[in-house]
Amino acid sequence: MTAASYRGATAEAIRHHYDVSNDFYSLWLDASLTYTCALWDDSAAALPGEPETLESAQARKLDYLIEGARAAGVRRVLDVGCGWGSLLKRLTGIYGVERAVGLTLSDSQADLVREAALPGTEIRVENWRDHEPDEGYDAIISIGAFEHFATTGLSRSERIAAYREFFERCYEWLPPRGRIALQTNVKGNNTVMDKATVRELMFIIETIFPESEIPALSEVVESSEKLFDVVSLRNDPDHYARTCAEWLRRLRENRGSAVRIAGEQHVLNYEKYLGASVRHFENRHLGLSRIILEKGR
Ligand SMILES: C[S@@+](CC[C@H](N)C(=O)[O-])C[C@H]1O[C@@H](n2cnc3c(N)ncnc32)[C@H](O)[C@@H]1O
Repeated sequence: MTAASYRGATAEAIRHHYDVSNDFYSLWLDASLTYTCALWDDSAAALPGEPETLESAQARKLDYLIEGARAAGVRRVLDVGCGWGSLLKRLTGIYGVERAVGLTLSDSQADLVREAALPGTEIRVENWRDHEPDEGYDAIISIGAFEHFATTGLSRSERIAAYREFFERCYEWLPPRGRIALQTNVKGNNTVMDKATVRELMFIIETIFPESEIPALSEVVESSEKLFDVVSLRNDPDHYARTCAEWLRRLRENRGSAVRIAGEQHVLNYEKYLGASVRHFENRHLGLSRIILEKGR
C-alpha cells in the first residue's frame, strides 16, 4: 500500500485527540487508562448488590478479547491501537505472553508505556500499514482503533477497501486458524435523528475525532470476507453508554484539576462529547461490536 492510498485518520488527527495530556485522561479513565467500552457484569461486583467498578469491567473486557483471540500463553501478540498499554500489560503480566507488540500513533501514549518498562512488551509509534514485523503473530487484538481506519467522507466502497487492507495485513501476519479479536463502535440501526442529534454527531466528528468515521457492521464483515470467518459477535451499546456515563461522572468529580490541565473550553467539549455519547448509545444511533474472526486457511 502506498502512502497516497492510505485512507485512515492521519497521525496529526490522532495526536489532536490523544496527545492532550496523559494527566488529563488519568483524571477520568480507570487506573489502567483503558479508553474503550468496558464489559459490565454487576453479578461479579465485590459486594453483593453493589454495582461493579469501572476497573473490574475494563479488566473483564480485556480478558474477553484475550480469550476470544486465543492469546493466552502464546509467544507473540499484536495490539493494533494499544493506547496507554493496558492490554499489553495484561498479556505479558497475567497471561504469560512472551512478546506483546503495541502500535499507536500517539507519542504521549508511547512515552507512558515506555516509562513503565514492562518486560516482554514493545511499543511502536507506527501505523499498522507501515508495520513490517520480523516474524508473524499468534494472535491479533484491536480495541477501539478501527474507527480511525477510514477517514470522514469516503464512500462505502472506499471504506470497505480501506478496512480490507487492514484484514489483508492481519491475514499475512497470522498462522492458519489464527484469530483477531476486534472491538469497534459501529453505526446503529436507529436512523431517525432530530437536528440536535445530527449537530451533536457533527460536533464529535469535527471537534473530538477529526478524520474518523464509524463503520457499519456490514462493512466490517464484508471487508473481511474470503479472509476470515466470524466466530462470534456481540453488540453492547448499553455497556458503552454506561462506560461513558462513568467517565463523565469522574471528569465532573475532578473538574477543577481537568480545567487546570486542559483549559475550560476543552473540558466543556469533553463533557458535551461524553454526554452525547451516552445518549447515542442509548438511542441506538451507535452500536458497539466485539467480533472474533478466524483465519480460514
Ligand atoms: C480509543 S484508543 C484505544 C486504545 C486502547 N486500545 C484501549 O482500549 O484503551 C485508539 C488507539 O488507536 C490508535 N490508532 C489509531 N489509528 C491507528 C493506526 N492507523 N495505526 C496504529 N494505531 C492507530 C491510537 O493511537 C490509539 O492508541
